[in-house]
Amino acid sequence: MTAFPDPAAFPPGFKFGAATSAYQIEGAVAEDGRGPSWWDTFAHTPGLIRDASTGDIACDHYHRWAEDLDLMQGLGLEAYRFSVAWPRVLPEGRGRLNPAGLDFYERLVDGLLARGITPYATLYHWDLPQPLADAGGWQVRETAEAFAEFSVQVMRRLGDRVARWATLNEPRCSAYVGHLEGRHAPGWTDLAATLKAAHHLLLAHGRAVQALRAERPGASLGIVLDVKPFTAAAPGAEHEAAVRRADGVFNRWFLDPIFKGRYPEDIAADYAAVMPGIGADDLALISQPIDHLGINYYTRGHVLHAPETRYPHAAEQRVPGAHYSTMEWEDWPEGLHLMLTRLQRDYAPKAIYIAENGAAEPDVVDADGRCRDTARVNYLAGHLGACARALAEGVPLDAYLVWSFMDNFEWGRGYTQRFGLVHVDYATQRRTAKDSALAYRDFIAAHRR
Ligand code: FCB
Repeated sequence: MTAFPDPAAFPPGFKFGAATSAYQIEGAVAEDGRGPSWWDTFAHTPGLIRDASTGDIACDHYHRWAEDLDLMQGLGLEAYRFSVAWPRVLPEGRGRLNPAGLDFYERLVDGLLARGITPYATLYHWDLPQPLADAGGWQVRETAEAFAEFSVQVMRRLGDRVARWATLNEPRCSAYVGHLEGRHAPGWTDLAATLKAAHHLLLAHGRAVQALRAERPGASLGIVLDVKPFTAAAPGAEHEAAVRRADGVFNRWFLDPIFKGRYPEDIAADYAAVMPGIGADDLALISQPIDHLGINYYTRGHVLHAPETRYPHAAEQRVPGAHYSTMEWEDWPEGLHLMLTRLQRDYAPKAIYIAENGAAEPDVVDADGRCRDTARVNYLAGHLGACARALAEGVPLDAYLVWSFMDNFEWGRGYTQRFGLVHVDYATQRRTAKDSALAYRDFIAAHRR
């Protein structure tokens, strides 16, 4: 068993919570005026989701939100990160506002505040309205403009109550997994389209920050990036070069434009033939100051140089003896500590928070009603320890959010992956707090004392 760190390693006011996203939990995809998103389309296309499921019902959170917030309160969660479904608010993507969509998020935010839980909102967690997908999706700059308009509508309704805003969740995943690996909507496999999508997503972030600051100057704005450290699985310069390239594609391609106003030169040189068109003012827009950086950390990439594989020519290797989750992700807490200290050194964000961290395990509820998810308890203890070490070294970390509050629709893997602190029985929608939820509850309570 991995021990939890001393709660006193986290300063008073540090927030412990959990995260979810709209399409993964809400269900109610055709209710109260919600329009379709490209994830509805993708999930309903036969053969694309591992268990042939969709987010049509998911955790039915759209109807059970109050019960879910009660559970969060019972666990003592201090912050909750949710995402706002763009197609609920603007069913056509732009233009006509659907106030009923905003009503739902207003109930949610007020419900959180009533229970003493701080709301963190993410504006785009991958559910692009289908009409915007039909008009070119992230291949066209207009989608960035549409995103800024949508963001302002949400800010207008909720800006006085949401503590922290993130524009995008994981633009890397949106671009690469959606447009190169084909595993997420829109399901393409085209590198030039991927880089174009990445650039337009970054522009969308920049345009939204600009529009949101104009709408509400005091709002606390940032972005959530997925970060992953890479290590060489064997000594040698060629493997070190593979590590540099993999890191450049995964991490620096997004961090550098946002914090330094430029794409990383080494990777841009390798991508020369497929680089998107970049407007004269684009990088200034993308690199406007932000108030915080949210990071999603799960695992590392332990790689070897592999010239026969797609660029960055780095093939992931299994680490003998390590624990792997059902996602086939290695449990490596030290990577979180390395990443936090590196982000601080290379990019110096004003504040950092862990927007997602967690593990999928083959959880079952035993006959006595308990879910003994020991591997997740170890995972959380180890990663909280990594956060404690980073704090001691001066990283301005101020919140830690577990992915996820409850089991949910894990994108292309459907319901086969259980990431929750809370187990969901999809047949009955019964929620059961797992052992990890109870251990986390006790840790949070000890920190408060
Ligand atoms: C992240 C996503 C989140 C969830 C976790 C497991 O990439 O942001 O929605 O799927 O991975």
